[in-house]
Amino acid sequence: MSKLILIAVSSSSLVCYFTNWSQYRPGNGKFMPSNIDPNLCTHLIYAFAGINDGHELVSAEANDEQLYKSFNGLKQRNPNLKTLLAVGGWVFGSEKFSTIVSSPANRNTFIQSSIKFLREHGFDGLDLDWEYPAARGSPPQDKQRFTTLCKELLQAYEAEGKATGRPRLMITAAVAAAKDIVDAGYEIAELAKYLDFINVMTYDLHGTSENITRHNSPLYNGSRDTGNYVYLNTDFAMRYWRDMGTPVEKLNMGFASYGRTFRLSTQSSQVGAPISGPAAAGTFTREAGFWSYYEICGFLQGASVQRIEDQKVPYAVKQNDWVGFDDKTSYEIKARYLKDNGFGGAFVWALDLDDFNGQFCGQGPYPLISYLRSLVVSDLPSGPMIAPLNKSPDPDNFCATKIDGTYAKPDAASSFYNCANGIITWVQHCPSTLVFQESCKCCTTP
Ligand SMILES: *[C@@H]1O[C@H](CO)[C@@H](O)[C@H](O)[C@H]1NC(C)=O
Ligand SMILES: *[C@@H]1O[C@H](CO)[C@@H](O)[C@H](O)[C@H]1NC(C)=O
Ligand SMILES: *[C@@H]1O[C@H](CO)[C@@H](O)[C@H](O)[C@H]1NC(C)=O
Repeated sequence: MSKLILIAVSSSSLVCYFTNWSQYRPGNGKFMPSNIDPNLCTHLIYAFAGINDGHELVSAEANDEQLYKSFNGLKQRNPNLKTLLAVGGWVFGSEKFSTIVSSPANRNTFIQSSIKFLREHGFDGLDLDWEYPAARGSPPQDKQRFTTLCKELLQAYEAEGKATGRPRLMITAAVAAAKDIVDAGYEIAELAKYLDFINVMTYDLHGTSENITRHNSPLYNGSRDTGNYVYLNTDFAMRYWRDMGTPVEKLNMGFASYGRTFRLSTQSSQVGAPISGPAAAGTFTREAGFWSYYEICGFLQGASVQRIEDQKVPYAVKQNDWVGFDDKTSYEIKARYLKDNGFGGAFVWALDLDDFNGQFCGQGPYPLISYLRSLVVSDLPSGPMIAPLNKSPDPDNFCATKIDGTYAKPDAASSFYNCANGIITWVQHCPSTLVFQESCKCCTTP
């Protein structure tokens, strides 16, 4: 009948975190759900909710529930978008998780409360951010109990889905990347059966406590890494989670839209140089040792930028300040690594740390995350398309007067325009031998 070719799409996810504290940043750093582009990511995760003394999932602040409304309202502008609520986080710690997993009754209370809470606020799932099972004072048996929690969550969510006829709530987790924490905290192969996807936090792997400069999110280990340090890199963590029994398509690789900073204590400024502590806090993020990508853009003026060849990431130095960060080039290398290994997708910490309104870096809105989207996500909503191969900005700005969507490119049958965010024009290409057809907005045989 139709000449349409259905190509198995290896469509990857792009999961983006929203942080509930970015609303308090001054001036142009202030970030609200209204700053989120609903077509940028495939999944959005709201960080963080908490757990009360009655073992129930609860919001952390009075105004969170207001923000949930605008956050989940983004789905009206992109019906394919999925939203999840993250519970936990670094500051939240381990203790309350330990309590909820400790008995069948506590687990059941938490699980039932989560169903009610997620449904009430219009989330599509729960993201467990326990940092970390069996660490920070939580007992060793929390490793097994965490698996049990996930198993029971899945059973309960399946039952609720069947009973109500609604799509089942998703269950996901953000997990450690450091080998010793992973070994202590997760029954990987068993755990992976119950989770829809797993976000491996392949950042914050190095910091000031090591007393020398190192990049926080290297792709590979570096020549100076010895002993257990050889495990503290993205490549090792992703392979480890895979080789220990997680299906590759469930694994999302972490991308940081920020850098970790150091104050140099000698003239030396290469990787491994001695430090006295973190650099000063950024004007907007106001946390020592941490700069958002948009704060780094300012720092780069007059700084010397070097690439760490073996680790595939850059750092920049100015006077005594040193920052290891990610840019489009390192995102591209990491995205290629992700695709080459067949991992399920990417996730970004966090939306509010990219140059979200394009006012700092001169690279348009969301320079890092929109570039990442172009590298990992199949941009076309329905089946017959394949993930974009080459996507290049179009100087003619075809989309200036178009609504978002795909359009034929009259002078090139196998290419098409993709308009996003009202203004961005990309030129994309059909898989070889296929041509773009306007009527179906798809690639077909000529
Ligand atoms: C955000 O979530 C954390 C829980 O991690 C909570 O402590 C905090 O009060 C919440 N709200 C804001 C605005 O930070
Ligand atoms: C960093 O320096 C402190 C204080 O001198 C020391 O106690 C600590 O062991 C050092 N850490 C590492 C990883 O060398
Ligand atoms: C460290 O890097 C070297 C060189 O790239 C590589 O051969 C080795 O497998 C890596 N080690 C780990 C533990 O990832």
